[in-house]
Amino acid sequence: MDEVRVRPGGTVTGPYEPPGDKSISHRAVMFGALATGTSRFQNFLEADDCLRTLQAFQSLGIPVTLKPKSGVLQIEGKGLMGLKPPSDVIDLGNSGTSIRLLLGILAGQRFEAVLTGDESLCSRPMGRVTRPLKQMGAQIKGKDNGNFAPLTIRGGRLQGIDFENSLASAQVKSALLLAGLYAEGKTRVHEKILSRDHTERFLKAAGAPFREESGWLCVEKAAELKPLNADLPGDFSAAAFFITGAALIEGSELRVKNVGLNPTRTGLLKVLRRMGASIEEKVIEETLEPVGEIRVRGGRLKGVRVAPEEIPSLIDELPILMVACALAEGESLIAGAKELRVKETDRIASMTEGLNRLGARVKELPDGCILEGVEGFKGGTVKSDGDHRTAMSLAVAGLRSQGEVVIEGVECVKTSYPGFFTDFDRLKNTSN
Ligand code: S3P
Repeated sequence: MDEVRVRPGGTVTGPYEPPGDKSISHRAVMFGALATGTSRFQNFLEADDCLRTLQAFQSLGIPVTLKPKSGVLQIEGKGLMGLKPPSDVIDLGNSGTSIRLLLGILAGQRFEAVLTGDESLCSRPMGRVTRPLKQMGAQIKGKDNGNFAPLTIRGGRLQGIDFENSLASAQVKSALLLAGLYAEGKTRVHEKILSRDHTERFLKAAGAPFREESGWLCVEKAAELKPLNADLPGDFSAAAFFITGAALIEGSELRVKNVGLNPTRTGLLKVLRRMGASIEEKVIEETLEPVGEIRVRGGRLKGVRVAPEEIPSLIDELPILMVACALAEGESLIAGAKELRVKETDRIASMTEGLNRLGARVKELPDGCILEGVEGFKGGTVKSDGDHRTAMSLAVAGLRSQGEVVIEGVECVKTSYPGFFTDFDRLKNTSN
């Protein structure tokens, strides 16, 4: 099992550009494949999850060209009805976004496909997507009435539905909006708390019959989607590890360039500022997505309460936010984050266990945790539990430890951020 040793000390300092955005890279492949004509994307994220999406569409008959390690991706879109039946089972690895959004697209096709994934993905709930898709007219079979992969899906004539996205899940919303491109009548999704809106932005850019009507996201059957040419923003969720690391280590000075600043994603910045962090952000351009710069200066942080309505805007940043809270002065509370229990692993459990092993004082709640801040961690050996964000968060925790932190099972960082430890070594500055 791969392990990484993080030696104590050092600041998080330097100019830094995160890799391409994972959520947006998935959608680039999907919209590129369904468009009529050639799409070109730069800064595509060449990490396992997005490569799974790319391979899935190749197996559905879409020609793609990706110059390795360049992030330059070209996709020959065959139109909304241009996908071909796959000759084999489609394996989406660890990627929840790949399988859930793909289900939405396959719901509109006239062939059968079988979707599977690794052990983690096959234990994550799919009913949240398969239930409404079946209601629209797709036939989906799998364990526990289609709640777990492997799933067999046969698309069909779909009928639009009205759907309340009570989990505030962008994956569920996106699957339904994509299926809505194939459905008779209107497909409408409502969410009380806004989840990330990348799919909506792609729908608009591709010229889909999509609009917002009195708080409802509304899509109708589309004849054609336009191909796109876009530079994908750096991933805020990848940058979050170093942003938080810089914020919680005095003397750090981090300048993040070319990073996505979509407000449905950047809730972490608001919470860190409430904790007393010095963070400036500036949007430099906005085409498909707002992109810009973030500057962070390290200092002392104080405890914070994170409210349930903030969770969707920082859902993937909660593991690293737990590190910050565990080191902040006083008590912190994270509530309304039950969804963390069904991510790549149960992140409330894995982070609580990891942090407590290092000397933190974290108490699990059913939907979050209470963290009593400590001055610093003592160090020790912790496990990733096969979860990329747990692994990267615990590595950052090592920067504020008295002793060495050993993280076991770090190969999983390739899921979203293969270059994480290279960037970590470069940004960790021990000279002051
Ligand atoms: C994602 C949505 C979120 C997020 C995941 C990526 C997306 O999941 O946690 O990493 O790309 O739509 P949920 O929609 O399940 O909240």
